[in-house]
Amino acid sequence: MKSRYDNEMELEFLSRSNNEAFARITVAAFCAQLDPTIEELADIKTAVSEAVTNCIVHGYEDTEGKVKIKATLLNDEVEIEITDSGKGIEDVELARKPLYTTKASLERSGMGFTIMESFMDKVEIHSVVGIGTKVIMKKKIKKQENIEENMEENALIN
Ligand SMILES: Nc1ncnc2c1ncn2[C@@H]1O[C@H](COP(=O)(O)OP(=O)(O)OP(=O)(O)O)[C@@H](O)[C@H]1O
Ligand SMILES: [Mg+2]
Repeated sequence: MKSRYDNEMELEFLSRSNNEAFARITVAAFCAQLDPTIEELADIKTAVSEAVTNCIVHGYEDTEGKVKIKATLLNDEVEIEITDSGKGIEDVELARKPLYTTKASLERSGMGFTIMESFMDKVEIHSVVGIGTKVIMKKKIKKQENIEENMEENALIN
């Protein structure tokens, strides 16, 4: 069946902190097809890193489970869906607030969702207590003039 997207990928991995870099680099490599600037790519990586870290430290806490990522490209926009089947969020509006954290004792600053919102164009949070959490983030990648130069630059980073 033909996809309604220009491209799509899915990723599933264990909720271990050493998989966070794997997730962020893989999503960035997939998004590189839209010829993002270094800065746009860095924004996507940071947002993915925050969302995945949340699944690991809050969703699954002391347990272990699967984190799923689905990324789709359509025209100039990337949509990234990051899902855990962990404990869920009781009050999503409160969790979104800057500096709100349930783990202050563990040196969390409560800025994860705020960072995702500032680096991506849109962030949706869907969560059910006891079932899990899904974060959907969208970002438009601007068309640029010097695509070749940029591709060379992109080849140098990860
Ligand atoms: N996947 C998740 N599952 C369960 N709870 C979550 C999840 N993601 C976020 N939360 C809850 O939302 C709160 C706010 O998340 P946010 O990422 O903004 O801050 P933080 O993770 O506490 O701190 P920081 O991201 O700055 O280290 C968390 O403290 C946690 O209570
Ligand atoms: Mg966080």
